[in-house]
Amino acid sequence: MNLSATHPQKVYPLGDGKTYAIRPIQPNDRERIIELFNHLSPESRYLRFAHAISKLPDAFLDEILELDYTKEMALVAVIQSQTGVEEIVGISRYVTPPNEQVCEFSLSVSDSYATHGIGTHLMLDLIAYAKENQLQEMLGYVLSKNIKMLHLVSELGFQISNLDDDPDFKTASLLL
Ligand SMILES: CC(C)(COP(=O)(O)OP(=O)(O)OC[C@H]1O[C@@H](n2cnc3c(N)ncnc32)[C@H](O)[C@@H]1OP(=O)(O)O)[C@@H](O)C(=O)NCCC(=O)NCCS
Repeated sequence: MNLSATHPQKVYPLGDGKTYAIRPIQPNDRERIIELFNHLSPESRYLRFAHAISKLPDAFLDEILELDYTKEMALVAVIQSQTGVEEIVGISRYVTPPNEQVCEFSLSVSDSYATHGIGTHLMLDLIAYAKENQLQEMLGYVLSKNIKMLHLVSELGFQISNLDDDPDFKTASLLL
């Protein structure tokens, strides 16, 4: 699917005159997603997947890459090297269970590119897509110890709540 006409990429400053772009994921991004995962620290992998994981399962990669681009969406933050090679440095994603209007988000940014605002922009653009697709709420389960992520989503207006039956997680919810 060629999404460049309907979903143009957005370009943001990275500092030092460099930029990164945010665009919908494409089926040919598979190797770049694997590279992003390979560059995440063990701690970042744990914070994202809530358990230790050393390789992205093929079935999970298939799910990320085969989207309907309405009730399932994934955005990637991309940096282009001087030789024109694209590197994915972050990904935000939502999925929506059948017959529901509440989507569930996830977010990862390469450790090498943290604290440049990439995670915030990936979430802001994801929220905009969810609104365009008439979803009513965005929800995520965040580890209680993931202070950085809880802070990031709070700044974007998400409501943080405790889970009665699991103190290890909090929910972050935004009405769209
Ligand atoms: C949590 C995570 C997504 C944050 O991504 P990020 O790109 O570093 O986030 P941002 O840069 O947008 O914001 C993070 C901080 O950087 C600050 N920041 C934003 N732009 C900045 C800039 N240009 N220069 C310096 N700092 C900046 C923000 O103010 C924020 O600071 P604070 O939280 O200390 O107040 C990333 O660390 C990550 O992938 N962690 C592991 C996986 C994970 O936890 N995923 C969430 C599970 S749902």
